[in-house]
Amino acid sequence: MIVLGIESSCDETGLAVYDTERGLLADVLHSQVALHGEYGGVVPELASRDHVRYLLPLTEQVLTKAGITKSELDGVAYTAGPGLMGALMVGACTGRAMAMALGIPAVAVHHMEGHLLAPMLEEAVPEFPFVALLVSGGHTLLAEVKGIGQYELLGESLDDAAGEAFDKTAKMLGLGYPGGPILARLAEQGEAGAYRFPRPMCDRPGLDFSFSGLKTFSLNTWQKETEQGNKNEQTQANICRAFEDAVVDTLVIKSRRAIQQVGAKTLVIAGGVGANLSLRKSLNTMMQKEGGQLFYPRIEFCTDNGAMIAYAGALRLLGGETEPLAINVRARWPMSELDAVVN
Ligand code: KG4
Ligand code: ZN
Repeated sequence: MIVLGIESSCDETGLAVYDTERGLLADVLHSQVALHGEYGGVVPELASRDHVRYLLPLTEQVLTKAGITKSELDGVAYTAGPGLMGALMVGACTGRAMAMALGIPAVAVHHMEGHLLAPMLEEAVPEFPFVALLVSGGHTLLAEVKGIGQYELLGESLDDAAGEAFDKTAKMLGLGYPGGPILARLAEQGEAGAYRFPRPMCDRPGLDFSFSGLKTFSLNTWQKETEQGNKNEQTQANICRAFEDAVVDTLVIKSRRAIQQVGAKTLVIAGGVGANLSLRKSLNTMMQKEGGQLFYPRIEFCTDNGAMIAYAGALRLLGGETEPLAINVRARWPMSELDAVVN
């Protein structure tokens, strides 16, 4: 089965072709970073319009790259949420229209399920059951994954998502957009231990997170240093390092708790913050100590992409999932509402 995947939930237009027999045939991506840069963050209406501009040319491009024609497609998968309503509508309407014109089924994919399954696009595939740490710009959660669509929430962020905290902290330090990767790069030049930031909610049992306090902690530290005449790049780098170390430690502590709680030996990390090298390294060390294994997607499949949507959609189509005629996208969508897929 050959499936076209469409991702348009936020600021990236991603297209991919996945073949259930041959694997990923092609993927292409257009990032809107330059478009939103001057506003310091994603402007939803500009995002929708840009998806309109790029979706069809990118569809042509990905089909050519895959070496197939439209008529060889067996299904279309599109992100139906969670995300920006306008941006989602562009991908959903285009995907459904294409499927209808070609006389093939379309399937609505949950963006976070796409992220969660992205490591399956790699050569070494994690086996069920496992614990997943999903860390993106909109979500931070730990889930026990028993199979496709069988997700039990173990804990989640009570305020900012990890990526959101990275982005907001970067903005406060004047580092620009997109904040996460810029902050991470600067943190590499920071001195370890220059500041000690708290590890939020680690002093009590449970698997929930709270990252908004770290943002305030960073701002207060930056203001204090500025007042003392230390407003320079090294101070910025030291704050970035302290912030990143605190987020990474917290994620490692809670992930360890999660695998111990459910008795899992496999941890999967996915979502934009999964591209953070310090986080990957620390989780790897932790899992080795626990006698288990860490799985993650290649860097470009940690952040938003069409490949993960094509893959998740292909599994759902193979499982016989079909869609009613009404197009339905959702800004919010708990993963626990997904149906299990039994292939
Ligand atoms: O999964 P994603 O592309 O989009 C959402 O579904 O939200 O994640 C984007 C988030 C942003 O907050 C971005 O700053 C963060 O992932 N991010 C990073 C890194 N690369 C992307 N955060 C920390 N370190 C990175 N290297
Ligand atoms: Zn995402």
